[in-house]
Amino acid sequence: MVTPPPDEADHDPTEGTDPWPSESGVDLAQLIHTEHQGLIRPIDQLQELAQELPQIEPSLLKERLTESVRFLRHDLLHHAAAEEEVIYPAVDRVLRSTGGATRSMMMDHSRIAEMTGELERLLEGPVSEDLRISAQRLLFGLEALISNHLNKEEAIYLPQLGRLGANGQADLLAHLQGHGSGGPEVEG
Ligand SMILES: [Fe+2]
Ligand SMILES: [Fe+2]
Repeated sequence: MVTPPPDEADHDPTEGTDPWPSESGVDLAQLIHTEHQGLIRPIDQLQELAQELPQIEPSLLKERLTESVRFLRHDLLHHAAAEEEVIYPAVDRVLRSTGGATRSMMMDHSRIAEMTGELERLLEGPVSEDLRISAQRLLFGLEALISNHLNKEEAIYLPQLGRLGANGQADLLAHLQGHGSGGPEVEG
């Protein structure tokens, strides 16, 4: 039987229940959800650092900002790259789309990468009032952007993965693991 193309209702988040339970032991949505859980605390810390920033000792300021850049570069953007390679194309296939369904999510990833680059470049200059103001603006912005991005993935995109069936999910898992992602031990 040919599955009819999803209509608008298929994009609605379903409250309370998992709309398309996995047919296999592989539950990609759960796996990505676990990765997201590991990202929540360090994302909150971006906002906390932004709030504390005006009072941080100059000698500690760059160390604290370097920690944030390390998280964004190595954990968060690594997670984003695995999604763009494996998860988003799979969601697009489910939604019978040619990239349009997740393109806005890739634009979020690009903006996060740009803002991470801006934060990184601030570290090249001297500690100054300008640096504090710019870093604070970037950290508040990153926290808001990333939190909203994760909420969209959880509510709209991850529920689509259950429709891929056993083999589809197993293939994607192998692909994710090849990307160095796909396990709770991976933070980003
Ligand atoms: Fe993402
Ligand atoms: Fe994600």
